[in-house]
This record gives sequence, C-alpha cells and structure tokens, in this order.
Amino acid sequence: MALPPPARPGRDRPRIVALVGIDGSGKTTQAHRLAADLAERGFRASYRRNAGGRHWFGRLASRLGRRDAEDLIGRRPMFVVESLLRWLAILRALLRRAATGEIAVMDRYAVCQYASLRARGARPAAERRARLAYGLFPRPDVTFLLAVDAKVAYERIERRGYDHEEIGFLYAATEAYRSLPEYAGFVVIDANGTPDQVAAAIRAHLTIPESAALPSVPRPRPAVGPAAGTGTARLPKR
Ligand SMILES: Nc1ncnc2c1ncn2[C@@H]1O[C@H](COP(=O)(O)OP(=O)(O)OP(=O)(O)O)[C@@H](O)[C@H]1O
Ligand SMILES: [Mg+2]
Repeated sequence: MALPPPARPGRDRPRIVALVGIDGSGKTTQAHRLAADLAERGFRASYRRNAGGRHWFGRLASRLGRRDAEDLIGRRPMFVVESLLRWLAILRALLRRAATGEIAVMDRYAVCQYASLRARGARPAAERRARLAYGLFPRPDVTFLLAVDAKVAYERIERRGYDHEEIGFLYAATEAYRSLPEYAGFVVIDANGTPDQVAAAIRAHLTIPESAALPSVPRPRPAVGPAAGTGTARLPKR
C-alpha cells in the first residue's frame, strides 16, 4: 500500500486562516483562541485584526452625540473609509506574514467588506471597486464562516456593552454573507454554541500535520522538570 507523501516542514500548514461572520458571531474571540492554540501546538501563528474603523468611529460618534459612524461622517464616506482602513490592515497583516512565515489568523478578511457593502445597501459599483482593490490579496487557505442566529448575535453585542447593532442589520448581514459568490468555499461553523464548542469545531476542520510546524518560535522552556505532556504538536529541534 502506498504511503502518503511525508509532510514537508513548513509547507503543509496553512498560511492564512480567516474568520468571518456577522457582528457578534465570535470572530475576535475565536481568532484569538485559534492563534493561541496553534502557537501552543508549536506553529508560529499570530492573531491579526483587520478592522475597518466602524467601531472606532461609532464610539467617537456617540461621544459627539451622533447616532453612529454613518451619522457622523456620512454613509458613502464611511464606505470609503472602512474599505480603505480594512485594506490597509490586511496589507499590513500579509506583509508581516510574509516576513515571518507565520500562520496569519485573520479576524475578518476581504469578504467581510463585500458583505458589509451588501448589507448596508451600497451600490454595486462600490463592491466592484472593493473587489478590484481587495482582489490583490491572496485567498485564505481556509475561511471559517461563524454562522450564528442574528438574535443570538444581537444579545451578545448587547451584553458586550460597548456598541450596538440593529437586529435588522444583523439579518441583512447574515443574508449578505450567504449571497456572496465566495460562500460555497466557506467552512461554515455553527457558532451558536459555547466558545469551547465553537473552538472545537474550528479545530476539527483545521488539520495540520505536526511535521509542518516551523522550527522558528523560540519558546521558553521550564527551568526544572519535564515539559507538560499535552499530546499536542511540539517544535522539532533544530
Ligand atoms: N460562543 C459564544 N457564546 C457566548 N458568548 C460569546 C461567544 N463567543 C463570543 N462571545 C461573546 O460575545 C461577544 C461578541 O463576541 P466577539 O467580540 O468575539 O464577536 P465578533 O464577531 O468579533 O464581533 P464584531 O464583529 O462586532 O467584532 C463578546 O462579548 C464575547 O465575549
Ligand atoms: Mg470582533
């Protein structure tokens, strides 16, 4: 029986893992967890936040007595600002990835911008322009869509307490993600469960041979006693 080819160190691991989904679906929570989990298993991995500035402008707006970011700077200018800021954030994350060889765990990616434009009723030309600009970026090796009931997401955002989303917008955003041509390529994760359940579902879909770990993360060793036997991937010795 032919054996599968051996994993080539550093080549059989993903380069870009994206977590996408509506506000409150748990992207930030899970992207942090995934990056930490990968690092724990011996992979060089970093969490990368690809924000579009809406939260920041939203907070500024409420301080200035405005309803939200669009009320503050205008609807179309906010589309432009969000598209530009997210584009720059992704570019920065990709450049850092290229320099380090890390697995970039992306909290949002290009598709989030397309979904945002669709959900907010931007004209098709706006999405076409965004696709031209974001089309320069490589497709992630895997894109996890955290699929959550809009009402669950709404309650999480309310509990989180630092911003607010209309339930109608969360429904529109859910539809927007489903309508994207990229949707068929997403790994859809049921994100209604507990953080542990969601993390386990993500991990189950992200199988990376342990031999693909890059021997490049100098991790501190305990001064005394054996290393904990976790059963997870370990860094090969140089
Ligand atoms: N599976 C979960 N069950 C319950 N609460 C969760 C779960 N995942 C995340 N949360 C909590 O829900 C809130 C929203 O989660 P998080 O900020 O990770 O979502 P997000 O998708 O990054 O949202 P946004 O798009 O607004 O940045 C946070 O307060 C977080 O602690
Ligand atoms: Mg977030």
